[in-house]
Amino acid sequence: MSIDLLLGLQWGDEGKGKIVDYVTNDYDIIARFQGGPNAGHTLEFDGIKHVLHTIPSGIFHKNAINLVGNGVVIDPVIFQKEIKALKKYNIDLKERLFISRKAHLILPTHRLLDAASETAKGKAKIGSTLKGIGPTYMDKTGRNGIRVGDLESENWKAKYRDLAEKHLSMIKYFNVDIQYDLQELENEFFKGVQSLQDLTFIDSENYLSKAIKDKKSILAEGAQGSLLDIDFGTYPFVTSSTTTAAGACTGLGVAPNRIKAVFGIFKAYTTRVGSGPFPTELDDDYGRKMAKVGNEFGATTGRPRRCGWLDLVALKYAIEVNGVTQLMMMKADVLSGFDQLKVATHYEYRGEKIDHLPYSIEADDVKPIYKTLNGWKKDLTKTTKEEQIPQALSEYIGFIEEEVGIPIHLVSVGPDREQTIMREKKSREVV
Ligand code: GDP
Ligand code: IMO
Ligand code: MG
Repeated sequence: MSIDLLLGLQWGDEGKGKIVDYVTNDYDIIARFQGGPNAGHTLEFDGIKHVLHTIPSGIFHKNAINLVGNGVVIDPVIFQKEIKALKKYNIDLKERLFISRKAHLILPTHRLLDAASETAKGKAKIGSTLKGIGPTYMDKTGRNGIRVGDLESENWKAKYRDLAEKHLSMIKYFNVDIQYDLQELENEFFKGVQSLQDLTFIDSENYLSKAIKDKKSILAEGAQGSLLDIDFGTYPFVTSSTTTAAGACTGLGVAPNRIKAVFGIFKAYTTRVGSGPFPTELDDDYGRKMAKVGNEFGATTGRPRRCGWLDLVALKYAIEVNGVTQLMMMKADVLSGFDQLKVATHYEYRGEKIDHLPYSIEADDVKPIYKTLNGWKKDLTKTTKEEQIPQALSEYIGFIEEEVGIPIHLVSVGPDREQTIMREKKSREVV
């Protein structure tokens, strides 16, 4: 049996959480493969909204196993809060939520280092979520990290102390004013670790390899988006993990030839939270309308998201890098009532018209070239069938499909599970 992949094609927050929850019925195992609590994945059903940061988005389904893979970085403090929020749903987490022994831990001092580094950068800051992601992955690749499996050994606290002391001296190096009470931070950290120890730690690559042999169906859930990838994103304004398809191989220990469908999720427009270039960003009434109607505030930090038109140059790039086989278009409802819609098809790059993503997409280097399409008036939030889609939206979808060469098989028209349109004909065109 194979493994399917679901990932974001823009700068994150495409709606991955909603779709993972929507498709979980089709899978036995949902596995997060990278990122950490910088992610905020929102699910809505039965009138309740849930935001998950580290726990995979299949957790509300009775029959699915949810796995936090080795590529994920875990903050025990945030993890404990997530577990607490799930308490009222009576989910047997010991049986249904497994954690890879090889996943790395975010220490309180990783978070402090993140804050010190960002403060020292001043205006050039990345706009990090300040969850300690960068410093934790640095310790991972620097071969200094502490892993979940270490918590099963006697001496892990000594290892913790050494690393925390090292971080404290590094914080001094930044020479910035960071206020903190280490004692308090460590108290909550150790409490978090205790609650983590109540869960089931596994050798997840072995578990998945056996699951594949046993013909279990597996969905790998990505976090962030392709344009935040450490290699292929808008470096240095990126996160510190491989958010693209390859990250599922390293973040779960599955071979590339096991991967079958790659579901690419994108918003019908574009958003970005944090710093960095954004060629189609709008500072006008259209952008403000997207932000307002789309309720574009970060699910993790609450920061307003920057909004702009759909960028097909960037989308095509993400489709290529990930080998996307099917697209899912989110938040189509947000564009209702726009008199016209623009879609970037090319860039003017240093005076030349190009259709690929160049090395730099800073405003000085690229200007988007747009195609203008008709808007639609109809409120889509109660639309459940493809036949009810207004003509202008069908044309918008058709235009995107033609430009990128991949079918859009799902259109999302609201945050709720029910507000989802499967395009039946397109669904049959799968790999
Ligand atoms: P993720 O990080 O990719 O899981 O996405 P987020 O949860 O950070 O952000 C997506 C936001 O859009 C959440 O508030 C969702 O509830 C909401 N959302 C998802 N799909 C739709 C949709 O089709 N329409 C609208 N209006 N909101 C949506
Ligand atoms: P989900 O999974 C949107 C952004 C931050 C910042 C940059 C680096 O919900 O789509 P980091 O904390 O990783 O050092 O921040 O990446 N970022 C996200 N933006 N959605 C996310 O996750 C993000 N995770 C990180 O805003 O610009
Ligand atoms: Mg999010």
